[in-house]
Amino acid sequence: MAGIDYTSLIPNNVALHENRRLQRALEDWQPKFLEWWQDMGPNGFQAKEVYLRTAVSVDAQGWAKFGYVRMPDYRWGIFLAEPEVGRQVNFGDHKGQPAWQEVPGEYRGTLRRLIVTQGDTEPASVEQQRHLGRTCPSLYDLRNLFQVNVEEGRHLWAMVYLLDAHFGRDGREESEALLQRRSGDADKPRILGAFNEKTPDWLSFFMFCFFTDRDGKYQLASLAESGFDPLSQTCRFMLTEEAHHMFVGEAGIMRIVQRACELQREHRTDDLRQHGGIDLRTIQKYLNFHCSVSLDLFGSEISTNAANFYTAGLKGRFEETKRQDDHQLKHATYTVAELDGERIVTREEGALVSLNERLRDDYVADCARGVARWNEVIKKHGIEFELTLPHRGFHRAIGIFADVRVSPDGRVISQAEWDARHGEWLPNDEDKAYIQSLMYAVIEPGKFANWIAPPPRGINGQPVDFEYVRLG
Ligand SMILES: [Fe+2]
Ligand SMILES: [Fe+2]
Repeated sequence: MAGIDYTSLIPNNVALHENRRLQRALEDWQPKFLEWWQDMGPNGFQAKEVYLRTAVSVDAQGWAKFGYVRMPDYRWGIFLAEPEVGRQVNFGDHKGQPAWQEVPGEYRGTLRRLIVTQGDTEPASVEQQRHLGRTCPSLYDLRNLFQVNVEEGRHLWAMVYLLDAHFGRDGREESEALLQRRSGDADKPRILGAFNEKTPDWLSFFMFCFFTDRDGKYQLASLAESGFDPLSQTCRFMLTEEAHHMFVGEAGIMRIVQRACELQREHRTDDLRQHGGIDLRTIQKYLNFHCSVSLDLFGSEISTNAANFYTAGLKGRFEETKRQDDHQLKHATYTVAELDGERIVTREEGALVSLNERLRDDYVADCARGVARWNEVIKKHGIEFELTLPHRGFHRAIGIFADVRVSPDGRVISQAEWDARHGEWLPNDEDKAYIQSLMYAVIEPGKFANWIAPPPRGINGQPVDFEYVRLG
């Protein structure tokens, strides 16, 4: 099972050759995917050799091999984590039943929607990032961008496999539609808001990888708990790839923070724009933006959908099986935020309808750990500044905070104060123009743009000045 068959047209570890109908459906979809990749994937660079990792097995040891690949030749395919023998539905009304190998008829529509919503984010981010190659701060970063892009492409494959294998004709139609929506398109936008935002520069890209890919981690982790076993196996393997995306984000921001500190000390000023750096205040604004749009991805604080997904055994909590409770939550409560006029207070709610908020809490705690690591860099430089996560009510478009204005430190404020001050809290036109002015390609191996520090080490044991992309 662990070994991946690379001799077939579609690399896989699901014995695709034994299911002719499915194989044909996927072989029919494959050229359409490649067409989409050519149209909407990385702009330029398609003929260049990139030092990429490809999955060769799905076990923890040595699942990846590294080598030069032209992106359109990347071996996208279908990889599921090892099946867990005797796995059960671990939560909800069906707790204790054997995990489902086929879609339960009553949950067909719901499950399809969950898979399509997750699947839609994968090509969306590739579309959002397609112009970044032209302004890469180094070959190392260019390679990391492309690694993220090809793996998001593979995540799309993962969801399309589930749709084609388990949802018949409806599934095949959804697979087509995943290639037809376009990030930011007014007529056929991607499903979720954050995936229609622009990723116009590398500071935004790293923030996206840190905050928005991390939402992906939490969604995938909850789906990995699913009683629908093929979804669980698919998501478990996707999580191993997702980890790299968050590394790219966290390490990228850390290197920008480090460079800001170096420049600040060297020039004895925190006004780094005259010195071509990105100051910590500007980093904070981008952080505020990407954090807030990513928080929206978790949905409303109170959600009967979330309760239904859980009760049905389709989507669990983060690390469901590690939690010590009845895994049904019918009588449990959870603390959620609430607006009491001008004040933000908390109240106890039913645990089932609060599952979105609980997942958001897990996510926020994880984000906070990353921010703490950035702050250590600042501290090491003896600079008094702390990056912080904005209050969860800040700049929200979904849930109870969508109707009010909240400052980053969590005060409910008037529209007038918001209008006067949001440019201090979110990137304003001047900030965006400045960041854009820093964006030009640095393509000499081992060289880095002035606003970002080199990484401490290269990829897969290669030196930092390795030729990660052969531009020739
Ligand atoms: Fe992904
Ligand atoms: Fe990702």
